Amino acid sequence: MKNIDFWFITMAIIYAVLGMALGLIMGIIQDISHTPVHAHINLVGWASMALFGLIYRAYPDLAASPLARLHFIAMTIGTPIMLAGIPLSHAGVTNVPVVAGSIAVFTATIVFLVNFVKNSGKAA
Ligand code: HEM
Ligand code: HEM
Repeated sequence: MKNIDFWFITMAIIYAVLGMALGLIMGIIQDISHTPVHAHINLVGWASMALFGLIYRAYPDLAASPLARLHFIAMTIGTPIMLAGIPLSHAGVTNVPVVAGSIAVFTATIVFLVNFVKNSGKAA
């Protein structure tokens, strides 16, 4: 997938803005009940996506594999579903979105592992 590093890093920065904004709001209104959402917006959305982008940049052969597209699609769809599912789960409404989103994020990461093991041989 062309420019996958750019797209992962762009998405990461958007999650950084959202995660930090939520952290600021939590601090200002002194309500830390959304800490798990804040933590995972920043750690799955910002930190993990930024690392994925930088790793694709460092190992360009990974981006050429069809596994890269699958990784990107599963992260793009799974992450917001997982994040939106956390408050629904905590409120006792439903666990379905958080579980489905988490499985998508986990599967995406397994796909990335397979791609890395298969195609990282020729490091830049
Ligand atoms: C403008 C930036 C940020 C603000 C204002 C902010 C604010 C906060 C606040 C108010 C809490 C709750 C603290 C408490 O329990 O008393 C918190 C927790 C947390 N934040 Fe942030 N945060 C920011 C950025 C980040 C970033 C960039 C990350 C990760 C890359 C992060 C990861 C976490 C984690 C993991 C927790 C939970 C810590 C725990 O389990 O005790 N935060 N943050
Ligand atoms: C599929 C991916 C993931 C799943 C399913 C998951 C699941 C969970 C769960 C169930 C909790 C306990 C939340 C609670 O207390 O309500 C948790 C907390 C935490 N996770 Fe994750 N996690 C994932 C990814 C990550 C990643 C990638 C990081 C770091 C890079 C991370 C860092 C943390 C931290 C720091 C906490 C404590 C935050 C807090 O105090 O709320 N997680 N995670």
